[in-house]
Amino acid sequence: MLKLRNEGPIGVYDSGLGGLTVLRAVADRFPREDLVYLGDNARVPYGTRSPQTVVNYARACASVLRGHHIKALVVACNTVSALALQVLDAELFFPVLGVIAPGVREALLVSDRKRIGVLATSATARSGAYERALAALDPQAQAFVRPAPLLVPLVDEGWLDGELPRMAVRKYLAPLVEHDIDALVLGCTHYPLLAAMISSELAALSGKSVPVLDSAQPAVDDLVQLMETRQLATERDDPGKVRIILTDMPYDFAIASRFMGQDVTKLNVTAVDL
Ligand code: DGL
Repeated sequence: MLKLRNEGPIGVYDSGLGGLTVLRAVADRFPREDLVYLGDNARVPYGTRSPQTVVNYARACASVLRGHHIKALVVACNTVSALALQVLDAELFFPVLGVIAPGVREALLVSDRKRIGVLATSATARSGAYERALAALDPQAQAFVRPAPLLVPLVDEGWLDGELPRMAVRKYLAPLVEHDIDALVLGCTHYPLLAAMISSELAALSGKSVPVLDSAQPAVDDLVQLMETRQLATERDDPGKVRIILTDMPYDFAIASRFMGQDVTKLNVTAVDL
């Protein structure tokens, strides 16, 4: 007999479209699971908002996903992970995973001197969440967290190369290089599209190769563990269905498709009015 709870989808939530990189990683790892992605792109960016507003937005979005009977939720958004993860975890009756602890854990694995740089939204940087996550895993390690707010609109505009994003990236990296970081966490779902540029500018500024880490894969590792310990895997054999729900229908899906690594218009995309 099928366990009904196990046949619910896995939810993935982000403030916008950047979390599609996490959805892609989840889909690659769990091809038989149904997935529901909620992107609150009508209200992006979250990273400039107050903590209370982020909590309110997160509650509203979690309630939409709850209506889809999800069995677990991956919060792909760093800002929500920083400001609302505990609230969601306390209020929801399914397990909730964030992206901050997995990113920090990965950075510790590759850093020798435990001097971890983080680029993040202003709200995430102000929250102190990365510093707390790092201290919990290794009290000797040091976090240097730098807000990089302009990178979100640049990515949304599709400005992924050229002088303008390069200048912004250099400006945000310079203070981290002064702190002599030996690993850098991309603490925002938008930044992976700039990963190659961030990596080359960081190498140019610091004169050495510094690992640049995206939390999508380590977050999926946490999901694998959760699915195993809670025995949540589907018992069906057919391929899982992927559904994308957005709070605003974009004019074009070029950036969404870059995040997802495939043509998003060929997927099941619908809009929801919050
Ligand atoms: N998804 C957000 C994050 O990862 C970035 C975009 C925003 O500011 O909402 O922090």
